Amino acid sequence: MRIVPEFISEAEEKQLHEEIEPYMSRLRYEFDHWDDAIHGFRETERKKWYPQNRELLERVRLLAFNGAIMPYVHVLDLAADGVIKPHVDSIRYCGNTISGISLLSDSVMRLVRTDAKKHQQNGTSTEDDTAYRQQPVTALENNFYADLLLPRRSLYIMSHTARYNFTHEILSKEHSKFLGKPVTKDRRISIICRNDP
Ligand code: OGA
Ligand code: MN
Repeated sequence: MRIVPEFISEAEEKQLHEEIEPYMSRLRYEFDHWDDAIHGFRETERKKWYPQNRELLERVRLLAFNGAIMPYVHVLDLAADGVIKPHVDSIRYCGNTISGISLLSDSVMRLVRTDAKKHQQNGTSTEDDTAYRQQPVTALENNFYADLLLPRRSLYIMSHTARYNFTHEILSKEHSKFLGKPVTKDRRISIICRNDP
């Protein structure tokens, strides 16, 4: 797991936000099902980007994916009171690396170690993995976990062990703390890139 602070400038953040906002602001936040991995979100996928944003995604492609990246970029808008619960992205839909640029707000991502074999690519799991986000049960007690600060405008690169052997989640506003200090979590947009399984 790698975090690159200030991966984009304030101007680049603004320019990404400006491209997304007209479409995003027309969608409604979903708080629906209790068993969904994400609450208080709206999302879209985007293939064509304005030239300046394309240039910036190109930097992600080279840095995080050695050039091999899925054409669709996932844009996730998490409301101030939204939360992403612990999950592992399905190995059916996503390869060994997931990257994310955080816009508009700092947040705290928690990684918790989970069953080492279950989520391996080409693993032997018989688990029903049709859901886009798998939600294995994890416990913090007697387990490895890490809380990571995702500053606004940072890029994270989650791959291999961090991607398969740990669940990831974005803590709620109330639980957002880093090194004992509260982190103000507001509305957050993430620009998520993945590679093919
Ligand atoms: C996801 C996810 C993290 C983020 O959409 O599966 O984990 O940075 N998103 O928004
Ligand atoms: Mn995920």
